[in-house]
Amino acid sequence: MTYQIAIDGPAGAGKSTIAKKLARTLGWIYVDTGAMYRAVALFCIRGGIDIRDEEAIVNALPGIDIDIIYNDEGQQVILNGENVNGFIRTEEVSAITSAVSAYGPVRAKVDEISRSIAARNSVVMDGRDIGTTVLPDATTKIFLTASVEERANRRYKEYIEKGIEADLEEIKADIEKRDENDRNREISPLRQADDAVLVDSSFMSIDEVVEEILEIHRGSFL
Ligand code: DC
Repeated sequence: MTYQIAIDGPAGAGKSTIAKKLARTLGWIYVDTGAMYRAVALFCIRGGIDIRDEEAIVNALPGIDIDIIYNDEGQQVILNGENVNGFIRTEEVSAITSAVSAYGPVRAKVDEISRSIAARNSVVMDGRDIGTTVLPDATTKIFLTASVEERANRRYKEYIEKGIEADLEEIKADIEKRDENDRNREISPLRQADDAVLVDSSFMSIDEVVEEILEIHRGSFL
């Protein structure tokens, strides 16, 4: 018997931090679906493929082999045999991933990989459409959100802690733009599933959110 906790929500709501912690607590696998979209975006950048050219991206898809492996550092994305985890979190990749992820055939490819992992393992999976599309029968569905101000503040602090120069207003504008793209795209937009529980983390610590989700998960068996 395998179980699934699906966590969807806008950029910067803390999905990956929370999902990783939950997976560790439960002894399950954490699946970061955004990382796979990021790998497709990286492939486009490296190959000089124009992200507005859907046909070019779709034609390139058969040559994009994505594999997910797990090591001591967690999920690793293997793009055509190369571990690209170190290259998919840059601003350049972040900026175009939303556009790349709007194409149906790209989504179908990532969905297939995500579902095949969930078929073999109990998973905590995060993304934008896990509860609505990828795992519609997930044991527990969470829609994790926080105010734009709070999400921008958290990202700003992350940058400052890493010694990266950052502008709060710019970060806020970027988050709003990504949310808008993800919510308004035609295929699998960011949306709370009807049976998902809304968790607003604006005024909660990481541990409080983890505890709340664990409680919701336990409640799904009652
Ligand atoms: O979660 P993230 O920031 O790594 O996601 C990167 C982009 O991929 C984001 O713009 C939304 C998109 N994405 C998606 O459309 N569906 C998912 N299940 C996960 C991510």
